[in-house]
Amino acid sequence: KGLRRPLVLANWKMNMAPNEVHPYLEKVLPEIEKDTKADVAIAAQDLYLADMVRQVADSRLMVAAENAHWTDEGAYTGETSPKALAMLGVSYVLIGHFERRKLFNETDERVNEKTKAALKNGLKPIVDLDEDLSAYANVKKESVVLKQLALALKGLSETDMKHVAIAYEPTWAIGSGEAASAEQAEKSAALIRQSLANLYSRDLADNTRILYGGSVTTTNASDFLSQEDIDGILVGKAALDPDQFLKLVDLAQATY
Ligand code: G3P
Repeated sequence: KGLRRPLVLANWKMNMAPNEVHPYLEKVLPEIEKDTKADVAIAAQDLYLADMVRQVADSRLMVAAENAHWTDEGAYTGETSPKALAMLGVSYVLIGHFERRKLFNETDERVNEKTKAALKNGLKPIVDLDEDLSAYANVKKESVVLKQLALALKGLSETDMKHVAIAYEPTWAIGSGEAASAEQAEKSAALIRQSLANLYSRDLADNTRILYGGSVTTTNASDFLSQEDIDGILVGKAALDPDQFLKLVDLAQATY
């Protein structure tokens, strides 16, 4: 996999009570310093991010936002500014997660704008491709994902792309307990990588991380992580438990 270090990214979504955040981090922080072969990050609700950044300051755990606005700042009541996130010390931002696309009407165009705004502010976008087949009757599933990819990255230079990772999540696998098979996921990841080579260059494609997400557990994580084109996991439910999260990090380090 060359220089592609695995990335384990927990997505807490709208879970975790305020009083659960500190003990969770207290538990995982010393453990994840023991091995450094995988990058590790947690995406949380905006209102937890500032405290989290403070608590992880001396560790290699990075903090991610689950969403951000498509422009730096301004009169956008209720939105979160990518500029403020970056200034706080947030490292990554999830963009275009299935739940945002489906529940909050986030379009491919918006995903593209948000990706650009994140990059402009020095955040590292994790661009989510969701493979929602129901929205595209009679269309080959590969083309759904590759179309989303091209639209999300429209206008991004190869230099921009050095800071972007892609997450592939089949919608039916999200929160369902039914993950894709490792072979299915690898096939999609390989297509995404080939598409990146077509859109940019072989070199860029070979250096871009592609994550799999959708019902990843401590039981199936290694199957995904050992695939040639899968460089990390985006984990919802299983990562709500700090012990399982640590186990997932261990599994990722073992495959590198
Ligand atoms: O962002 C990760 C997520 O969509 C997958 O959730 O609960 O299936 O791991 P889960």
